Order: sequence, then structure tokens, then C-alpha cells
Amino acid sequence: MPILILLSLLALAGCNSEAPAPVETGPRSTWGVIQEDIFAARCVGCHAAGTSFANQSALVLTGDAAYAQLVGAAPDNASAAGDGLLRVSPAAGLPGLLKSYLWEKINAPDQAHFYGDHPQYGALMPLGGNPLTNGELAFIRAWIEAGAPETGQVADPALLADDSYYERPPFAPLPEPEDGLQLHLGPFDVPPYFEREFFSMVSFDSGEDRFIDRFEISMQSGSHHFLIYTFRDDTPAERLPASSEVRELRDADGNYVFDTVRTMLFHVPIVGSQWPFFDFSFPPGVAMRLPAGSRLDLNSHYINRTGETTTGEVYANLHFANSSEVVHEAQIFGLSNVDFTLPAGKVTTLTEEYQFRERRHIMQLMSHAHEHMLEFRVEIAGGARDGELVYVSYDWEHPPILEFDPPLVLERGEGFKVEATYDNWTDRDLGFGFLSEDEMMILYGFYYTE
Ligand code: HEC
Repeated sequence: MPILILLSLLALAGCNSEAPAPVETGPRSTWGVIQEDIFAARCVGCHAAGTSFANQSALVLTGDAAYAQLVGAAPDNASAAGDGLLRVSPAAGLPGLLKSYLWEKINAPDQAHFYGDHPQYGALMPLGGNPLTNGELAFIRAWIEAGAPETGQVADPALLADDSYYERPPFAPLPEPEDGLQLHLGPFDVPPYFEREFFSMVSFDSGEDRFIDRFEISMQSGSHHFLIYTFRDDTPAERLPASSEVRELRDADGNYVFDTVRTMLFHVPIVGSQWPFFDFSFPPGVAMRLPAGSRLDLNSHYINRTGETTTGEVYANLHFANSSEVVHEAQIFGLSNVDFTLPAGKVTTLTEEYQFRERRHIMQLMSHAHEHMLEFRVEIAGGARDGELVYVSYDWEHPPILEFDPPLVLERGEGFKVEATYDNWTDRDLGFGFLSEDEMMILYGFYYTE
């Protein structure tokens, strides 16, 4: 008898110390599948506690936090919160879906609606990656429409078998803006194994200043970047290029064309993109002044690493605001470090600090560097948030374009610390230069002052 008791006690103790999870009968809950199979794989790299992206979006999608952070929670994005959305609405059916900001952020097939109707909603998720599969979207949608329960199976796992995903339709001309200016380059040839970069100037012949509240850019594949510049007020008349003439940065032998380089000294960038498709709107009441008679220098850089001639083409739309509705004038900064050397065969980290002389409301940040860049980090310098990481990029070709809504406010005397790491795997020292094999360290941003 005592032996039996002992045995059963041991068995109990064994049970306790093994602490088996409560027996799961049947398949996992729908929410469990979403968190473990979709979010953990595609989102948690950014949305994990302590990362700059999680701080910026105030959203953590790891298993311990995700459900509470999503269901019934208000969005961090000011515009979505103002529209009365929740991150995930617990309401059932279509009303729940339409009130769920998460759905807006992942529903890539509806991106025309997303960018067209909700210019302040930031970027589609996952940021900078392929969209979720159509199966994953259908599965998440079914979960939201079922009231987003934490337990139970409310979506058919067979939906997940569809692993197709939305791909942007091939390059096509942008429709003309209703009130605005359309700019177009090409189609033009990019010779085999060649980097073609050129400029072409267009005059803005309107009788009055206009204000740009939205930019759209669409590019044929193979583009490294497209930028629009104006010219500094003190540009000598003889440096101003003639309209529509194509000015190559390098001749057919690869040598710089100095007349082209000289005009670059007087450039003021206004907008640019390294993404094949870019659609950006300023917050309501903010727009960028385009003075009457402005000269817009269009700059395209294509890289052809194949043995065949490829074709480049770029459309850009500048949409004009109703001038009477403009409260703040948007400005652009380009914090550029041009004075550096990256020794041959070494990994080098460059650090540069910049301070602003007035209070700035920062609406967007984007880095620019070339192919040796491993990491590009931006921290706030000075003030209460000194040292806080606000931007990071690991992709020189497609750096994230980060939008801040509400804008990131930096007080007078505060600024950014930019830290960029490069791997110079070549056998020559590298410095600042315009080819992708030279390097750059630029932080671009849109801002307004009071
Ligand atoms: C490369 C980093 C990155 C990845 C990967 C990423 N996100 Fe984000 N996410 C961000 C950043 C930065 C923001 C804030 C800016 C914005 O909304 O565009 C954000 C914002 C969000 C928001 C809005 C939060 C709010 O309340 O304003 C949601 C929802 C979201 N992400 C969901 C996801 C989901 C779901 C995935 C995976 C499918 C994902 N994200 C993958 C970086 C990322």
C-alpha cells in the first residue's frame, strides 16, 4: 500500500515537473496560426519590442503582446485614429473589416485605394517586402470578419494553400494629374554593362506660384533613382541648362562630362525615389511651393548589368494644392557627407552629426547610399530623446521611405546623428562620387517649420 501511494505521488510529481501544456485537442486556433505562421515570419523582424520600427509604429507583434496590441486597440497613426479605425475591430462582418487599420495596411491588392484615398496611412506592410500571400490575406480577413477571437477556429486553413501574391501591374504611364504637372523622360536606351545617368531641364511656365501636395513617380525597371531638382537662386546664368536638352553625366567612354557636373553644384533637390513606384502626400495643410518660372532638372540613373540594351522610362506627377488651404510650406533637407575615405578591403563606419537652427516638424526620412553600404542608422541628436533610433536601412537599392504621422518634432539645436557602415571589398580606397561604385552618405527628409 505505501508503495502504491509513493508511486502515485511520484507519478503526480512527475506530471507537475513535466508541466505539459494543456492538451490541445484538434488544430491550433486561427489567431495562433496568424501569429505563429504569418506575423512571426513576416513582421516580427521589425515589430519586436525595442526595435526602432516597433517604437515608431508603437506596435509589437510577438506572441506575448500581439493580440492585446491589435484587437480593440487604437492605431498609432494619427490619421487612421482620426478616421475612427481600430487596429483590429472586434465587430463582426464587413463593418469590423472596414474599421480595421491592420487590414488597410496589409491589403496590397487594394493599393490604389490605399494610396489614393488614404495618403496619410504610411506604407503598406510588410514594409519594403513582398505582400502577404493572397491565401494569408483571405485567412486574416476571415478571422477579422469573425470578430477576431483569440481562441477557436474561424477560418479555413485550406485558404493558406493559395501562395500567389499581388504583384504591381507592369510599368505603365501615369494618368495626367487633374490639377498638376506631368513630367516624362524616355523611353531611352541604357547600353549593355553601363550606368546611364543624365539630366533634362523643364521650365515651369505658369504665371503664379503653385503648391505641390502630392508626388507620384513611376519607373520602368532597372532604375537606381529618379530625382527632381530646382536651382539655387545664386546660380550664374551661364550655368543654367537649356530646356529639354539631354545632359549625360558620363560620356560613352565612362568619363564625367564636366559641364553636367558643374550644374550639379547648384542643385536643390525637391523629390526623389529609388522605388519603381512612389506615391507621397503631405499632411493636410502642408505643401511645397513651386515658384512661377522654376526650372525643374529631371535626373534619371539607370543601371544595366546585362549584355543587352535595356529601356528606361520615368513618369512623375506633381499634384497642386488649392493655395488658400496651405498653412505650412514643406521644405526638403539633404544632409550629405561628402568628405570621407573608405579604405580598401575594410569595413568602415562613418558618423556625422547635424543640428537644426529652428524647430522642425519632420514628415519623411530616406537614406541614400551606394552598393557598399551595409547599414544606415539615424538617431536623434540632443534633447530629451537623444540617442533614439528613428531610421535604419540595410538595403542601398531600396531604402525604406519612412513617413511620420504625426510628424517627428525636433527642437531648435536638436538634429540627427547619422551613422553609416560600408564594406569596401575593392582594392582601392573609395570616396564620395556619383557612380554606384563610388559612395554617398545622404539623409533626405521633408519638414516644415512653424
Ligand atoms: C521593415 C520593417 C517592417 C516590417 C517587416 C513590417 N513593418 Fe509594420 N510598420 C513598420 C513601420 C516603420 C511602421 C510605421 C510607419 C507606417 O505606418 O508606415 C509600421 C506600421 C505598422 C502598422 C500600423 C501601426 C499603427 O498603429 O500606426 C501595422 C498595423 C503594421 N505595421 C503591421 C505590420 C504587419 C502585419 C507586418 C507583417 C506582415 C509588418 N507590419 C511588417 C515597419 C515594418
